[in-house]
Amino acid sequence: MAQDFILFAKQLLASPFQVSAISPSSRFLARAMAAGLGPHSGPVMEFGPGTGQLTRGVLAAGVAPQDLTLIEMSADFARHLQNIFAGVNVRRAGAQEAASFAPAGSVGVVISGLPLLSMPDPVVEAILTAAFTVLRAGGEMRQFTYGSKPPIAPHIMEKLGLVAVKAGKVWLNLPPARVYILKRAREV
Ligand SMILES: C[S@@+](CC[C@H](N)C(=O)[O-])C[C@H]1O[C@@H](n2cnc3c(N)ncnc32)[C@H](O)[C@@H]1O
Repeated sequence: MAQDFILFAKQLLASPFQVSAISPSSRFLARAMAAGLGPHSGPVMEFGPGTGQLTRGVLAAGVAPQDLTLIEMSADFARHLQNIFAGVNVRRAGAQEAASFAPAGSVGVVISGLPLLSMPDPVVEAILTAAFTVLRAGGEMRQFTYGSKPPIAPHIMEKLGLVAVKAGKVWLNLPPARVYILKRAREV
């Protein structure tokens, strides 16, 4: 775990805008992000896994390693993830490229630790479009945020035909975080 913090701090110093968080997520946030997942939920994709804190929660919930694909932009994080998670599929890539790694409509859940609020609108749109291309009918994306507002600007949600529903608030995280579930508006 100490190794995770050192690697996280190094990446934060090297690429502050890409990491955009003061520490890895807590196990409490990992549990909230993975709530209700299990062997039935796969395939699952995770965007921006970093040191793998949320990944641990997804695996602990019962998702099989071979049903989990991690998409991480940082080469150092991707190498670390490959070393610690046997059997999990790790791709060093931008989440915008998710549709290259799974057939359209095949994924049950996308878990995202990406700092979407710090990204330009076109990048956020590309990431959400990729997520909802791979997600099957009824599938959902889970995103946490630290602020009081939803993790994606309303004009982007409307343009892409998505809605965000509030899920759990996790006080035991630094800083406290809120989980949101993003779905296709026509399916709600
Ligand atoms: C705030 S950290 C979250 C790390 C981890 N999920 C957690 O909750 O502790 C954001 C992570 O997203 C990665 N990242 C940023 N932009 C990305 C992108 N476009 N595609 C994939 N990963 C990205 C960063 O390298 C970093 O690992």
